[in-house]
Amino acid sequence: MDKIVIEGGVPLRGEVQVSGAKNAALPAMAASLLAEGDHAVANVPDLADVRTMGRLLAHMGCEVVRGAGDDRHVVSLRVPRSVIPEAPYELVKTMRASVLVLGPLVARWGRARVSLPGGCAIGARPIDQHLKALSALGAEIALEHGYVEARAPSGRLQGGSFVFDVNTVTGTENVMMAAVLAEGRTVLGNCACEPEVADLARALREMGASIEGEGTTEIRIDGVERLRPLYHRVIPDRIEAGTLLVAGALAGGDVLVRGCLAEHMEGLLEKLRAAGATLEAVPAGLRVIGDGRPRPVDFRTAPFPGFATDMQAQMMVLLAVADGSSVVTETVFENRFMHVQELLRLGADITTDGKTALVKGVTELSGAPVMASDLRASAALVLAGLLAKGSTEVLRVYHLDRGYERLEDKLAPLGARIRRMKA
Ligand code: EPU
Repeated sequence: MDKIVIEGGVPLRGEVQVSGAKNAALPAMAASLLAEGDHAVANVPDLADVRTMGRLLAHMGCEVVRGAGDDRHVVSLRVPRSVIPEAPYELVKTMRASVLVLGPLVARWGRARVSLPGGCAIGARPIDQHLKALSALGAEIALEHGYVEARAPSGRLQGGSFVFDVNTVTGTENVMMAAVLAEGRTVLGNCACEPEVADLARALREMGASIEGEGTTEIRIDGVERLRPLYHRVIPDRIEAGTLLVAGALAGGDVLVRGCLAEHMEGLLEKLRAAGATLEAVPAGLRVIGDGRPRPVDFRTAPFPGFATDMQAQMMVLLAVADGSSVVTETVFENRFMHVQELLRLGADITTDGKTALVKGVTELSGAPVMASDLRASAALVLAGLLAKGSTEVLRVYHLDRGYERLEDKLAPLGARIRRMKA
C-alpha cells in the first residue's frame, strides 16, 4: 500500500494541465453498452475508478483497451452483440458508479442484474431514484439476494415521465441512458444539471440519440431503435482543476491550471475570490494567485451550479488557516466531514455539528501522519500537507488514486516537495 509524504510550506508556482473528468468518463464508458461495435472515449484519466469500470465492462464480455504513448488517454471499447448483463458485488462494492451500467443494460437487452451498492463512507447513498425512474419507463424491478433485477417485460422499455424527488447525478445519467433506446418519448423533471450530465447527453447524441434539455432541470428524449458506436472526448475534470486551484491559492502560490473551464466552477471561483485569491481567466485556462492569509468565507454545498460537494473538503483546508472563522454547510451528503478529525491532527481548529462545520482559522498547520477516508477527503489531506510545516504522511492513498491521476506528479513540478512511497 502506498503513502504520500509531503514536506510542506513551499508556495506552488508554475503550470499544470488538468486531466479529463472521471465523472464524465465513467458514464461515457457505460454508454458504450448501448451500441454494438467499436467505440472510443478520449481524454479519459488513468485512474482506479476508470480501471474498475473497464473491468466491469470486460466482465460482461466487452474488450476494453487503453492506448499507449500519446494515446494513453484514449480508451477503446469493443461491445459485442450480447453480453452478460450483470454487475457483480465484487466490482460494485469498490465503485458505486458501477450502477451506471443498469440503464444501458436494461435498455439494450431488456434485463440487468446489478449488485446494490450498500453503504459508503460519505453517506447512505441509496439508488431508489434510479429504480423509480426505470419503473416509470416500464421496467419491472425486484431486489433479490443483494441484487437489483430489472426487466423490460416486452423486451423494450417504454418512454414515460418522471420527476426526480432529489437531485441525483448518476440517477439522471442512468435514466437518460435507459430512455434513449426506449419506445417513444421520455420527459424527466428535476434532473441534475451538472456538466457531466450534459457531457453524457452530448455523447449520446453523437451515438444518434434524440435528446434535448441537458444542463437544465427538464430533459426530453425521443427513443430510437438503434444507436451507432460512440466517439467522444470527455470534458476537463472540474474537481481536479478545483483541487489544483486551491493548491495554488495556498500560501502565496501562483499557478496556471491549463485546460479547465471557468463556467464549470463558478461556485468555487466565487468563494476563492471571497477568500482573497486572485483569479485570472486566460485563454489556456485559469491562473490563481494566493496573496497573504486567506479571508474567512462561509459556504454551503449544493447541486450545480452551486458549490460542489466534491470540493468541500479541499476548500476547508484553505479556510483552516484563514484570518477568522468560517461556517461550512454540507447539504448533499450526510457524512462528509471525515477529513475534519484528520485536519485536527494537523492543528486545525474545527468543530462540527450535524451538517455544519465551524472552521476557526489558525496561523499554521503542523505536519503529522493522517489517514485518508474517501477520495476528496484524501485530496484535502494532501493540500493540508502542502500547507503544514514539517512532514505530513497521507496513508491509504488508494482513496486518492480512485479519482486523481497521480496527483503528486502534478504537484511536484510546481515545486511541491511530495513523493509516493511504500507504506
Ligand atoms: N440520492 C438519493 N436517492 C438516489 C440517488 C441519490 O437519495 O436514488 C441522494 C444521495 O444519497 C445524495 C444526493 O441524493 O444525498 C446526491 O447524490 P447523487 O446521486 O447526485 O450522487 P452520485 O450520482 O452517486 C455523483 C458523483 C459524486 C458526487 C455526487 C454529487 C459520479 C460517479 N459521482 O455521485 O462524486 O459527489 O454526484 O455531485 O458522478 C467523487 O467523485 O468523489 C464523488 C463522490
